[in-house]
Amino acid sequence: MKVDGRHWRTIWLADDGRSVAFIDQTRLPHAFVTACARTLSEAADAIREMRVRGAPLIGAMAAYGLALALGEDASDSALDRAVATLAATRPTAVNLRWALDDVAGLVRQLPPARRADAAYRRAGEICDEDVAACEAIGEHGLALIRTAAHRKGTDERVNVLTHCNAGWLATVDWGTAMAPIYKAFDAGLGVHVWVDETRPRNQGAALTAWELGRHGVPHTVIVDNAGGHLMQRGRVDLCITGTDRTTAAGDVCNKIGTYLKALAAFDNEVPFYVALPSTTIDWTIRDGLAEIPIEERDPAEVTATVGRAPGGEVVAVTVTPEGTPAANYAFDVTPARLITALITERGVCAASAEGLGALFPDRGHSSSPGAEGARDPVNP
Ligand code: MRU
Repeated sequence: MKVDGRHWRTIWLADDGRSVAFIDQTRLPHAFVTACARTLSEAADAIREMRVRGAPLIGAMAAYGLALALGEDASDSALDRAVATLAATRPTAVNLRWALDDVAGLVRQLPPARRADAAYRRAGEICDEDVAACEAIGEHGLALIRTAAHRKGTDERVNVLTHCNAGWLATVDWGTAMAPIYKAFDAGLGVHVWVDETRPRNQGAALTAWELGRHGVPHTVIVDNAGGHLMQRGRVDLCITGTDRTTAAGDVCNKIGTYLKALAAFDNEVPFYVALPSTTIDWTIRDGLAEIPIEERDPAEVTATVGRAPGGEVVAVTVTPEGTPAANYAFDVTPARLITALITERGVCAASAEGLGALFPDRGHSSSPGAEGARDPVNP
C-alpha cells in the first residue's frame, strides 16, 4: 500500500541481497522507520519484540530468518537450531510454523552449498504468494461489502467494525480483514470503519488507524468495550477480523477481545466475518479451545501504555497502582458457531469442516460435528 505516495511492502530484501528490511511497527504511529535484520538472531528478535507482527508477516520474517541462518551455517544441525529458535518466538500464529516447515522441508533435500540461496528464493515467493492471497481476499470480501451496501439501500456508508490490526501492516501487503475495505474504498463505495483500540498494545489505535488514515478511509477509533453498544443501536453493519490460527473445523484464534465482539455480533444479528489466507489454517486440529496455545505476554504491557507526550516525546506511562498484578493473554478463541463466514483467497465459506473442505478439497475434511447452527455465509 502507499505511504505518502510511495508503494511499500512491510518486508523486503535489502539492496545487499542478504539483509531483510522491514517497517518497524513498534515506532508507529509516531514515526515511520525502517530497520534491517542481518542475522538469525536479529530476525528472531524482530518477531519476539513485535517490530514485525501479524500472522502472515511473522511467517514471512521466519522464512527470511531461516535464509539468514543458512547464510551463516548451512549444516543440518544449524538448520534444526534455526527452526527451533524461530519457532519459539511466538506460539499462537500458525503461519510461523507453516513457513518454517515449508522452507526447511525444501532446503533439507539440497546440499548445504545450495541451501541459503534456495531459502531466500522461497522466502521471496512466500511474500509474493501472501500478497496475491490477501488481494484475492480483498476481492471476495468486497462482494460482501457490496451486498451490505445494497441491503442498506440508502446513500449511507457501510459501517465495518474491526479488532486489532489485520491490515497491510500485519501481512506483506493489502492485509486480511482490511483488504476488502481498501477494495471497497478504491471502488468508490461509502465505507466507514469502527477501529477497536485493542489494548494492551493498541494495534487498532496505533496501526489500523494509521493505515486507514494514510489511505484516506473514513474511520473512528473506539475503546474496546464500545462495540456491543454500537451494535445494539444498529451502527455496525458487519464485523471483519483476522485470525492467527484457524482450525480445520472453522474455530478461529485472534487478538484478545475478538470473542467478545463475536458474541455481541451474534446477539445483535450483525454478520461476523473472519478473513484469512489458507496459510493461517492449522489442518491438524479441530477444537480451537482445547488445541491452540495462547500466548501470554509481559504483564507490563497491561500495567503501562505507550504514547506521545505533549512535548513530542514517546513515553510509557503506568496506569495501575504500583505493584498491581496483571495478566496479559494475547489471543482468544472464537468458536465457529459464532462466525458468519470465512473469507479466504479461494472464496467465502461457512466456518466449518464442510465449508473449508469444499474450498480446499486438497486439505479439508468431509464432516464437522461443530457445523450445526452455522449461519448461511451469503445470506446471514
Ligand atoms: O499480536 P499481534 O499484533 O501479532 O496479533 C495480530 C492479530 O491478532 C491479527 O488480527 C492476526 O494476525 C491476523 S492479521 C492478518
